[in-house]
Formats: sequence, structure tokens, C-alpha cells
Amino acid sequence: MNGSGLPPRRLLVTGGCGFIGSNFIHFLLREHPDVAVVNLDKLTYAGNPDNLRDLEGDSRYRFIRGDIADADVVEQAMVGVDAVVNFAAETHVDRSLFGADDFIRTDVHGTYVLLRAAQVAGAGRFIQVSTDEVYGDVPPGKRSRESDPLHPRSPYAASKAGGEMQCIAFWETYRLPVIITRASNNVGPRQHPEKAVPLFVTNALRGEPLPVYGDGRQRRDWLYVEDHCRALDLLLRRGEPGEVYNIGADNERENVEVAALVLRELEKPLGLIRHVEDRPGHDRRYALDSSKLRALSWAPRHGFEEALRATVRWYVENEWWWRRVREGDFARFYAAQYGHRLGGATGG
Ligand code: NAD
Ligand code: DAU
Repeated sequence: MNGSGLPPRRLLVTGGCGFIGSNFIHFLLREHPDVAVVNLDKLTYAGNPDNLRDLEGDSRYRFIRGDIADADVVEQAMVGVDAVVNFAAETHVDRSLFGADDFIRTDVHGTYVLLRAAQVAGAGRFIQVSTDEVYGDVPPGKRSRESDPLHPRSPYAASKAGGEMQCIAFWETYRLPVIITRASNNVGPRQHPEKAVPLFVTNALRGEPLPVYGDGRQRRDWLYVEDHCRALDLLLRRGEPGEVYNIGADNERENVEVAALVLRELEKPLGLIRHVEDRPGHDRRYALDSSKLRALSWAPRHGFEEALRATVRWYVENEWWWRRVREGDFARFYAAQYGHRLGGATGG
């Protein structure tokens, strides 16, 4: 519901050219014929216009290229909007280890600029798409609950936690109807190949080693991107303002197991797995208790193996998409990130 008690009709989605944002925009326009979307995206290295190319000419969709930290652009984008979903962020933990200026600028300050504009415009619900990484490392046997203290351990996670704090301040101070979501690791189509699953898939397709950090026994809680989108859509309508919701599908897997499943799916040898130098400060485990969201009748519709299979298939069928992404700047990042780990790999 927005301020008028009606479901949102015109949404501002930020970061819509990225992985989850583009899946969310497709989901929204497919599920709700009466909804219009404004997508504000800076088109950083992670923003890919190919992700929404099929919406060109759709009268329900408008794209604005701009920065969520630019108050003038944000003010214009907010006109006539009755809900905001903020995906825009710097998102890659490994990049945040090289330097976190952009993370703080976008994930903290950018969130503040958006909140301020939403408050001034009376824009209705504001969904802040946050992450399970704000809880930090989760000991075996435990699952994070929304009321748990935050203990972010990477510059990325700390930036996301900073954004959350701004959201809470706008709820407490101005009663801006903010909802914070903390999702676990997503898999699905159109994820940038810097992230583990698409990196493993595209490296395997190129016949190159899959760099698994450390012993590979770190655990992540995998969620199919479409199930994430359905949860966000539900919370836009039925979530409680001022509340936090975990979004996880109870699919804990060790990284090395995920790498092996990718190889099995592609009928490639397990020998492609290469254990390499670990990520500094690497959180060993994330796991979410999502019972608060499940009480609103959400449940994931995709099991992990099915989700991974669909994801692998998408990369096999869309080689043009990932080859284009892996050309250019990506090669420089890959060399810096993996060159010493894999012995001079270029990855482009
Ligand atoms: P992504 O890196 O694929 O996309 C990020 C998008 O934001 C890009 O299109 C980029 O151009 C845009 N962007 C970056 N800075 C911007 C700025 N200053 N102004 C406007 N646009 C900007 O990210 P993703 O994986 O789709 O993640 C989306 C959101 O979900 C992020 O907030 C992330 O923290 C959160 N999240 C991601 C996951 C995951 O597994 N990928 C899990 C939980 C939460
Ligand atoms: O948990 C939610 C988070 O999931 C999101 O908030 C982040 O935006 C998103 O990037 C993701 O963070 P991770 O660091 O968990 O994702 P990544 O795909 O980079 O790594 C997944 C796991 O795989 C992690 O334990 C690190 C490991 N890994 C990653 C890469 C890139 C490897 O072993 N080798 C690799 O080359």
C-alpha cells in the first residue's frame, strides 16, 4: 500500500539495469499490467542496458540514466511516484576490498539522498534491498533473525548496514514508510560474471579453472532471483512499514559443492576446481530465519538444484550476453583479482 492505502501504480526502481533489479522489473511488468516503472540507474560497470533491451518501446517503462546520490536527478525521478524500491548499490565484496569509496558514496550517501527525496515528495513505501551480510558470520546451528545485532565484516557489508541505519532514522524521525529486506545469495539469469556462480559457469564453458576460495567449505544460503522478486512484490503490498524482513530459501550449500554441481550440469571434469588464496575476512557462513516473511504466505517456489540448473542453462543459451560483459574492463578486474591466484589468468 502507498500513502493512499492503494497498491503502488508507479514505482521508482533504482539499479534496475543490474542483476536483481532487471529481474524485478520484468517480474513486475509481467505480473501487474496496471503498473508503470521508472528505472534510475547510473550504468556503472555492473549496469547493463542489454538486461532491459526488450522493454524499449513499452509505454509502462521509462529509463533515466543517473546517480542516486545526485539530489537533482533523484528529485525529478521521484515525480508522481507512489513507491520506491532501492536496488542501486555497489555489490561485490571482492571489489570493496580494493577500496570502498564508491560503496560508501552509493550504498550509504546515495540511500540517504533517495530517502530525503522520497520524504519530501511523499512517495509512499520505500523498500531498501539489503543483504544477509549485515549479520556477519553466523555460527553453525544458528540462523539470523531480524532482531539480531548487526556485525558487518567487509567494507561492502558495512556500507549496506550504513544504508539501513539511514532508513531506520527516516522511519523513526519522519515516519517515512520504509521496509528493509535482507536477502541471501541470489542465483539466476543476468548476474554479472564477477560473482561466484556465473564466474564458475562461464569459466567452465571456457574450459578454465573455477577459483574456489580457501577450502571452499564456506556456506551460503541460495535463493532463486524470481523467488526474491516475488517476496519484494509481496512486501510492497503487505509488509509492515518500519519492519525488517529476511528473505532466504533454506538452501545452505558449501561453495565447493556449488562448483561441483555447476561442473556436473555442464558435464565438465571436477579437476577444473582450483582451490586458491582465500578472500580476506571471508565470512564462513550465512543462514537466515525467514519465518517472518513466510508468515505472510511467501514460500520459495524453486529448489536449489532446479534454480542452479535453470541458471546454468541461461548462460549456455546466452553466450553473447556474458561474452560481451567479460570483454573490456572485466579482464582488468580479473587479472587483479585472480592473476596471482591462478598464475597470470586474464579471464577476458
Ligand atoms: P548489481 O551489481 O548486479 O547491480 C547494481 C545496479 O546498481 C547496476 O545496474 C548499477 O549500474 C546500479 N548502480 C550502482 N551505483 C549506482 C548509483 N550510484 N546510482 C544509480 N545506480 C547505481 O547488483 P545486484 O546483485 O542486482 O544487487 C541489487 C541489490 O540487492 C543491491 O542493493 C545488493 O546489495 C542487494 N543484494 C544482492 C544480493 C545478491 O545475491 N546479488 C543478495 C542480497 C542483496
Ligand atoms: O549474501 C548476499 C550477498 O551475496 C550480496 O549482498 C552480495 O551483493 C552478493 O555479491 C553476494 O555476496 P558473496 O560475497 O556471498 O557472493 P560471491 O558470489 O562473490 O561469492 C559467493 C561465495 O563464493 C563466497 O563465499 C565467496 C566464494 N567465491 C567467490 C568468488 C567470486 C569463491 O570461492 N570464488 C570466487 O571466485
